[in-house]
Amino acid sequence: MSHPIAGIILAAGKGTRMKSELPKGLHLVLGLPMVELIGRAMKLAGVAKPIVVVGHRGELIKEALGDGYDYAWQREQKGTGHAAMVASEFIKGHDSPVLVVPGDTPLLGAEILKELVVRHRETRAKCTLATSLVEDPTGYGRVVRDGAGRVAGIVEERDATPEERSIREVNAAVYCFDAPILLTILPKLSNQNAQGEYYLTDAVSAIYRQGEDVATLMVADREILMGVNDHWQLAQAEKALRGRINRLHALNGVSIVDPDSTFIGLDVRIGPDTVIEPNTHIQGETSIGSKCHLGPSTKIKSCKIASGVNVYFSQVVEATLCEGVKVGPYANIRPGTILGKHTKVGNFVEVKKSTLGESVSVSHLTYIGDASIGDMTNIGAGTITCNYDGFIKHQTTIGRDVFVGSNSTLVAPLTVEDGSMIAAGSVVTHNVPADALAFGRARQEVKEGWVSRWRKKKRSENQL
Ligand code: UD1
Ligand code: CA
Repeated sequence: MSHPIAGIILAAGKGTRMKSELPKGLHLVLGLPMVELIGRAMKLAGVAKPIVVVGHRGELIKEALGDGYDYAWQREQKGTGHAAMVASEFIKGHDSPVLVVPGDTPLLGAEILKELVVRHRETRAKCTLATSLVEDPTGYGRVVRDGAGRVAGIVEERDATPEERSIREVNAAVYCFDAPILLTILPKLSNQNAQGEYYLTDAVSAIYRQGEDVATLMVADREILMGVNDHWQLAQAEKALRGRINRLHALNGVSIVDPDSTFIGLDVRIGPDTVIEPNTHIQGETSIGSKCHLGPSTKIKSCKIASGVNVYFSQVVEATLCEGVKVGPYANIRPGTILGKHTKVGNFVEVKKSTLGESVSVSHLTYIGDASIGDMTNIGAGTITCNYDGFIKHQTTIGRDVFVGSNSTLVAPLTVEDGSMIAAGSVVTHNVPADALAFGRARQEVKEGWVSRWRKKKRSENQL
């Protein structure tokens, strides 16, 4: 039985042109590190445990990717060939294809990797590379073919003759090698070139010189192979990937009003007939039902949102919103919150780690933290749950069908039972039993005729 496909991701380089403290692979595209995007693609293409070559600030990459990967250390960055070499200990004795990809091509999806492996197996070549025809090949290695049209090697720009520089077929640095030949060739690479580096590209000419075949997979959609070397290219990659994701959602029946200002992450599912208004960011692992209306200017991260939900001008993070919930404008729904069916959270309301039942109304200027609120309860404007005593957080439990008058201060721990009422402006420090009215403020006094008596006194005192 042959081994499963192996995969190596080269991510040890410093990424000097990023001008950043972070290693290049950790720069984010749609909220995910580039190297993780590649790792996911590899796994989807059938690589059980990709090998990541790390070097410059490699511990950060290891921390970000975690288990599920093998790590090979390249302490000194001596080139892509040397990087592949340090990974070779993990593929000793393999007899299967090995994918080798750079850690800076974030649009490279599993489909292309799968196609590459299929082409590799069909052609029985020893190496298969993804290439692309470009208008401007500047910066890329050029694919050099012999008189018979067979791939004879790859020449890096700095080592190329003017004639070679005019070649428009470029190397994407995405390869599929037969493991045994890769293992024999890597130790023989030389660094006699313009950069004094061991080039992985030289493995290709070495295979050709041995009389073996090198196949190519010409990728028409050039964007997929786009390499990111600086922040401008990172922004282009982000834009391109965003466009692809938005298009898929649109084709699935989601109405995206302005794709250029809609930011949807990779792990987001959205039902049909949902409308997404401009400047909406949907991130993390999020599921959204159908017939929702989200945005404008809204951020939703790692949420479960049922159908028929409206969120506008608001932020919702790690929360569950049941059917028909309305949030916003200007609401902040924080982690651990569950909003029951048809509940409404209005303007300038913050809700943290709280469970609100069905048809609860919290319409204005309120803070609800560490609370549970029963069905049909109305929370008046300006209500604050005082959940923190300076040391620990306390719980507020409010029953169903409760009416909390405006500007009430609910000092936790506190229980307010079903059907009770709290008078506006109360500071409530004791539990309220069911069906009771709680008053927590001074009673109003009215002094008839007091104002004119006072004014008269003041006038005579000041001789006016
Ligand atoms: C490389 C290819 C070039 C190709 C281009 C496509 C070589 C010599 N050249 O050039 O033919 O057209 O990609 O984008 O392979 N890395 C290491 N260790 C090192 C050096 C690099 O891990 O010692 C990693 C980098 O982190 C990066 C990847 O290898 O993820 C590619 O390196 P980079 O310097 O970006 O190569 P290019 O100049 O783009
Ligand atoms: Ca590159």
